[in-house]
Amino acid sequence: NKQFVIAPSILSADFACLGKEVQDVLLAGADWIHFDVMDNHYVPNLTIGPLVCEAIRPYAIKDGQPAMIDVHLMVEPVDRLVPDFAKAGANLISFHPEASPHVNRTLNLIRDQGCQAGLVLNPATPLHHLDHTLELLDLVLLMSVNPGFGGQSFIPSTIEKIAQVRAKLDQYQAETGRHIRLEVDGGIKVDNIAQIAKAGADTFVAGLAIFGKDNYTTVIDAMRVELGK
Ligand code: DX5
Ligand code: ZN
Repeated sequence: NKQFVIAPSILSADFACLGKEVQDVLLAGADWIHFDVMDNHYVPNLTIGPLVCEAIRPYAIKDGQPAMIDVHLMVEPVDRLVPDFAKAGANLISFHPEASPHVNRTLNLIRDQGCQAGLVLNPATPLHHLDHTLELLDLVLLMSVNPGFGGQSFIPSTIEKIAQVRAKLDQYQAETGRHIRLEVDGGIKVDNIAQIAKAGADTFVAGLAIFGKDNYTTVIDAMRVELGK
């Protein structure tokens, strides 16, 4: 459905059969594929890059249409990788503002490459990063864990922050008519997704909660029940 998006993070998928994992999770009812890029510099972990994005692109199909590949860049610097991910079939590219010296330039670069653009705020990153950027954003991604690893626990103070960003985005939409998605990433599971939605999130990343289970359909269905949809 349009209102609530479930975006499984393939970080917790079986990398030995990633194409099948992507196919399976979309068949199980996921909307987007969340693609976590870590560089062992901005975050202390190393994951996947444009080659892997290109490799899974043909498998990221939902109802006969390409599904969104939601690339979360935890890298520094950012700009050099943007054209590579656009060519690899990314649909949305988000980055952390403190990892790019010229945030406006990076956002424009992402849009010029034909992708949607997002900014990612860590648990302790202040909201003022949204002050002069909203008109270039399609999505705000709020981290509910510190970036770097899957399977961490949701940080409770994020709830208050989600509500604050929701208020900002609602006000912006009232003024401009533009809708910006609010995505939350880290420690989301069946037990807490309703509370996160209630605070104002509309897009939910979940890694371990989905890929850690045998039956993806069961988890995603349970999440949708919690979302009231
Ligand atoms: C953390 C990543 C998240 C994470 C989500 O740095 O950005 O996308 O893998 O995984 P879970 O749901 O397991 O916290
Ligand atoms: Zn992520």
